[in-house]
Amino acid sequence: MGGATLPLVLTTLGVLLLYRILTRLRSNGSVQGLVVVITGASSGLGKECARVFHAAGARLVVCGRDAGRLQQVVQELTASTTATQKQTFSPSTVIFDLAKADTIGKAAEEILKCYGHVDVLINNAGISYRGNILDTHISVQREVMETNYFGPISLTQALLPSMVHRRSGHIVVISSVQGKIAIPSRSAYAASKHATQAFFDCLRAEIEQNGISVTVISPGYIQTDLSINAVTGDGSKYGIMDKATAAGQNPRDVAHAVLKAVCQRSSDVLLAGTLPSVAVYLRTLWPALFFKLMSSRARKEQKLKENLLTFGSRTLRRPPGQDQT
Ligand SMILES: NC(=O)c1ccc[n+]([C@@H]2O[C@H](COP(=O)([O-])OP(=O)(O)OC[C@H]3O[C@@H](n4cnc5c(N)ncnc54)[C@H](OP(=O)(O)O)[C@@H]3O)[C@@H](O)[C@H]2O)c1
Repeated sequence: MGGATLPLVLTTLGVLLLYRILTRLRSNGSVQGLVVVITGASSGLGKECARVFHAAGARLVVCGRDAGRLQQVVQELTASTTATQKQTFSPSTVIFDLAKADTIGKAAEEILKCYGHVDVLINNAGISYRGNILDTHISVQREVMETNYFGPISLTQALLPSMVHRRSGHIVVISSVQGKIAIPSRSAYAASKHATQAFFDCLRAEIEQNGISVTVISPGYIQTDLSINAVTGDGSKYGIMDKATAAGQNPRDVAHAVLKAVCQRSSDVLLAGTLPSVAVYLRTLWPALFFKLMSSRARKEQKLKENLLTFGSRTLRRPPGQDQT
């Protein structure tokens, strides 16, 4: 019995490896000529995805709130087209705010008008958040949820019937490592990304029978303006480039990984370094340790904040003797 175990394990591993190689080879497609919609294409990862998918020959519909910034992206893409590249197409733009539920139906209609259908929807737009739950107004929790969760799921639901009708389509969502683990000072963001992961996992299971694929991509830190644009507990802008974000992955590399995931029709992709990847497994395999580590992180952050406040008030205090002047 014992002698038969090793060959059995090796055969199983071999079959699994072969299956993986075959599925990769079978699904290694291209986006040449496909209609690809990218939300949040005005900056950061969305802008890099626009560059990478445009160069790969996709027919783009780029979306955002700021018409001027989007137009700049379109001009850059059109100018970057050279005779040596594959056939490229001039991108279309659709302007709308994902946090405003009543604008999404009209935006989906505009998107469909561009080419008559959508092959790939990349739900990329999002905002981050910095703050403690105790100091955070509930309206901020809702704002982040509207942008990161209700916006993408509403757009997806609005575009799905046309994909189902064609029995073809691919829904991609840019989640985050924080869709798999929750870290202190990020409640609104982590909650919105956990909800995103759950919704699109359900959608994948339900919609596969209609010929539609779903890919959830969970990156770790990326060098973008995400932390600068983050919202704080009172609704004001955080405005700081975090060290971790500044030291994050190059957005162009992440955009290439998104293209690869689309071509391979991957289901779930974690794009993170060793530490965050270990943390994801620790959360499942040894939750008690994970929670202790997160509590310790929260205490350290609180202490740092108190020290900064004390230091700030000391430097603001006038030196003795100057009080009467
Ligand atoms: N950077 C990271 O460390 C990191 C890590 C993991 C996951 N992610 C995810 O990656 C995605 C892209 O973020 P990024 O890092 O590229 O940040 P970014 O540079 O701040 O870009 C965010 C994009 O989202 C758009 N956006 C924000 N609120 C919107 C709204 N209400 N309606 C429509 N568009 C809106 C912005 O467009 P306008 O402001 O021009 O409208 C902008 O183009 C996000 O989903 C984020 O959660 C980022």
